[in-house]
Formats: sequence, structure tokens, C-alpha cells
Amino acid sequence: MLLPMKPLSHLLSSIPASATIAINDKAKALKAAGRDVISLAGGDPDFDTPLAVQEAAFQAIRSGDTHYPPSRGTPALRKAIAAKLARENGVQVDPNTQVLVGPGAKFLIYAVLAALCNPGDEVIIFEPYWVSYVPMTLLVGARPVTVPLSAADGFTITAERIAQAVTPATKVILVNSPNNPTGRVMTRAEAEAIREVALAHDLYVISDEIYEKLIFEGEHICLASLPDMAARTIVINGHSKAYAMTGWRLGWAAGPADVIDLAANLQSQTVTSAASFTMAAGAAALNGSQEVVEEMRLAYKARRDFMVEALNAIPGVECDRPQGAFYLFVRFPGLSPSAMTIADILLERADIACTPGIEFGQAGEGHVRFSIATAMSDLERAVERIRRLMTSL
Ligand SMILES: Cc1ncc(COP(=O)(O)O)c(C=O)c1O
Repeated sequence: MLLPMKPLSHLLSSIPASATIAINDKAKALKAAGRDVISLAGGDPDFDTPLAVQEAAFQAIRSGDTHYPPSRGTPALRKAIAAKLARENGVQVDPNTQVLVGPGAKFLIYAVLAALCNPGDEVIIFEPYWVSYVPMTLLVGARPVTVPLSAADGFTITAERIAQAVTPATKVILVNSPNNPTGRVMTRAEAEAIREVALAHDLYVISDEIYEKLIFEGEHICLASLPDMAARTIVINGHSKAYAMTGWRLGWAAGPADVIDLAANLQSQTVTSAASFTMAAGAAALNGSQEVVEEMRLAYKARRDFMVEALNAIPGVECDRPQGAFYLFVRFPGLSPSAMTIADILLERADIACTPGIEFGQAGEGHVRFSIATAMSDLERAVERIRRLMTSL
């Protein structure tokens, strides 16, 4: 008689697969079945990686840079990151001890959470949140404590709201600006509020700045640059969004050396490192001309301006103006208060794939997220379909 198999990991069984990937898969299946689906569900720039950056990778491969690189990242890329932080963010870090390069910002957020947290430690996460923050927190044995922000006041962060979530077990505040999914850019008052609570309660801050280069209004404030914050802030950033390099898998963490050491231990015992020639391209991207980045930013801005105006002109649709990133967080009071229902109707009746706001936490209910990292022609067609759908009701 065969014995039943022993149960698989309870921890991993409790973590859902990424919802955004599931929606993309559904849209792809419909496309494969012949439906002309417009996908506004992804977070992947439609631009190609800049040619000079591609060329640096080809050159690295041809010159034999195809072996195991240093686990923490090549000295050249770590130096480029430290120079970028000093030049653009007013943050001084030692490239040898305070910078860790890895395969994407996503892995580094996980590695830094693992470095900071013990079982039962609490991580404060603002809601709506990027889909992976909660599962990652659970994976390192910590407890996510969400702070719901409200669409009614533009998802504003205040010191009072954060302080209400603080307990003796609080260890980390996880911040994301520019924000996915809301497109909000943190104001100086909000940065000050986070600083005030972090200092008062001796907390670490993980600052996910992956959309830093995509700001249309407002300024980027690197939390590590505020007084007394460098010792407790780990900055996360990467090449994916700014340089249209999502598939290259390249990101970095910069912060206190003891935290970086532990995150580097996790990396060296698991994924080892980022890919060698990818890092050569990454250094070229940071050290080279930033003109292409500006061109892409302007393209996203033009798309945002078009979409916000066109969507708000349709009765039953409401779209706030995001100040950064490449997402619109849209309400359809004329369709349904339920994000899931809105997303289903848009897919079934308008062949538009998007992400239900509820995937970003309860505070995202009533919204769907549209990605404008999508060609303008597709955005124009999407608006036309939404207009037809809404007038047909
Ligand atoms: C807020 C946020 N942080 C991090 C990432 C991950 O970026 P990477 O491609 O560098 O892993 C994403 C990607 O969608 C994101 O939206």
C-alpha cells in the first residue's frame, strides 16, 4: 500500500501566487484564442533597453565576462551606484560595504526584510501596497501590519496614521514612492512624518525607490538623505523601470553595512549574484547619458495627460492625476463599487485586461490599475472601448 505523501510547506502553501501575473496569463490565453485583448495589466515598459546599454552587455560577453562575478556585484557597478546615490540623492555610501547588487529589486526587498526581521517582528506597510510586500514579509516570518490610506484624501500619509500602527514589535516601515499602484509621489511633509515615527520608535525604513526616474510633478525625496536616517534606511532601486530593463533582472540595496552583510549572506547562499554581463550593462546605464531616460519619462507623461483627460471625460469614470510611476488608479462608479467586477466587465465586454485594485489591499477596493507602459495607440483604442462600453449601459 502506498503511504500518503507528507504535506508540503505550510508557509509557502499560505502564499498566493502573484495576482498580477495570473491576470496577465488570463489575458494572454484570451489573446491566443483570437480575442483582440489590450493589456493594461503589466508593469513592463514597452520601450526597448537603450542601445548603448545593450552594446555594453554584448561587449562584456565578447570579452569573456561570463564567469561567476563577485556575489555582491561587480566593483564597477557598485561604484556607479554609490556615485549615483551621492550625485542624485545626496546619500554617501561605501561601495564596498554598503551596496548589494542582486537579480532585481524584488529579490533585494526580500533579502533586506530577511536581514532585518526575527519571527514575530512587525512590518508597517501602507495600503494600497505593491502586491509582493505582504507575501515577502510572511516569507521571512514577520507580520505585515497594514496602514490603510484613503482615496478621499489622495492616499496621504501622516505621522498619526503611522503611529497608530506602531507596537513594541514594530521593526520596519516599508515605503514606496513614487507609488505602485496609486502613482502618488511622497511630499516632504510625508517624508518628515515617516522620519519622525522611525526616529521616535527606533525603526528601520525600507525605501523602495524603483520608480524614482518617473516623476511628472513633485520631487523625489530619498529617505536616507534626511537627517539621522542613513543609519536606519535601506534604499532599494534598480534598472527595470528607469532603463526599460525588466528582463535583465538587476537591482540594488544600499544602507547600513551590517544589514547589507546579512542580505549578502542570503544572496550568496541562494541565487549567488546577478548575471555578470548584465552588471556591465547596468554600470553603463548609470554612468552614461540619461537622455533616453528623459525621453521615456516625457512619453509616459504625454500618455498620462491623454489618459487622465480622456477617462475623466467619460461619464461614470473617475481618474486622479498620478504624479509619478506609470499607473493610473481608476474608479468606475458608473459600473460597480467592486474592483473585481470592474476588471471582469472590462475584460469580458471591452477586451481590456487590467489589475483589480483589491489586489493591492482593501484600500484599493473600487479601483482598477491601468498601466500606461503601453503604446499610445493601444491607450487610444482602450479609451474608445471604455467610452463605447459606458455609453452602452
Ligand atoms: C513597487 C515595486 N518595487 C519593486 C519592483 C520590482 O522590480 P525588479 O524588476 O527590479 O525586481 C516592482 C516591479 O513591478 C515594483 O512595482
